[in-house]
Amino acid sequence: MKLLLLGKGGQVGWELQRSLAPLGELVALDHESTEFHADFSEPERLFETVRALCPDVIVNAAAHTAVDKAESEPELARKLNATAPGVLAKAANELGALIVHYSTDYVFDGSGDRPWREDDETGPLSVYGQTKLEGEQLVASNCPKHLIFRTSWVYAARGGNFAKTMLRLAKERDKLTVIDDQFGAPTGAELLADATAHAIRETIRDSSKAGRYHLVAAGVTTWNGYARFVLAQAQAMGIELKAGPQFVEPVPTSAFPLPAKRPHNSRLDTSRFQKSFDLVLPPWEEGVARMLRETL
Ligand SMILES: NC(=O)c1ccc[n+]([C@@H]2O[C@H](COP(=O)([O-])OP(=O)(O)OC[C@H]3O[C@@H](n4cnc5c(N)ncnc54)[C@H](OP(=O)(O)O)[C@@H]3O)[C@@H](O)[C@H]2O)c1
Repeated sequence: MKLLLLGKGGQVGWELQRSLAPLGELVALDHESTEFHADFSEPERLFETVRALCPDVIVNAAAHTAVDKAESEPELARKLNATAPGVLAKAANELGALIVHYSTDYVFDGSGDRPWREDDETGPLSVYGQTKLEGEQLVASNCPKHLIFRTSWVYAARGGNFAKTMLRLAKERDKLTVIDDQFGAPTGAELLADATAHAIRETIRDSSKAGRYHLVAAGVTTWNGYARFVLAQAQAMGIELKAGPQFVEPVPTSAFPLPAKRPHNSRLDTSRFQKSFDLVLPPWEEGVARMLRETL
């Protein structure tokens, strides 16, 4: 089996390089790749790359993920999040290949407190959410053999992340103020990559598994709960902090005005994924604790 991975240097792309390797011959590209064009800002040229490589599976981990910046550059966000994935899906369909694509909880309006199911009505609040929704729609309509995974609050050990920022601030300050009215599940790039590899194997064997799935770690928290968990773990590992978990004050989203509106309810119901692929999604705390042990 030949696999083409786009966006190899991102949080999820980096982990996919590891998890996809045992599945077959893997060609991993980013927008700086020279031999094959993989810059999403020129979407039409992605046809050339796919036609030259003839993969059995295309995995797209590239995206415009700067949620606030997207508000001021909607055209670029649309190219990266919608037009380019649409081209990849069309090219995949020409070859009879499977396309794998990631989307987001930001396709929903964040109302209520019930975990969103795949068929619930969407209502993006931001340019990022809107363009990611358009991307999903183009992928699904251009290539019936698709796996679209909506995920949330992605972190990775590599590079910067929310947990590392909280730890740095907790060493510098006596108290932190962190939002406590957005609910979701922090999800490790490792978990996403591993689950993706399993799902690809199953879908190659049985194409009826193709479709759109919610894929996040189990459980729910707020950014405030997430921060408190990180600081408690750090203290348990003997790291000295000025502000321990008891000094993380809850504040509403309105305390930090940002260009892009965020959904309050980002809970995603993953029953369809777990049932279809016979997999269990572990609690978010397990992945975050592991990432902290690796990085601290
Ligand atoms: N991060 C989250 O919290 C989150 C939540 C829900 C869903 N998702 C979705 O999950 C997927 C993976 O996200 P992630 O967190 O791994 O994102 P990420 O770390 O920001 O990675 C995005 C990747 O896209 C690449 N990219 C940027 N501009 C490009 C261009 N013009 N052409 C080609 N590649 C380009 C980046 O390359 P450079 O780094 O070299 O610019 C990077 O490798 C995305 O579809 C995202 O929408 C993420």
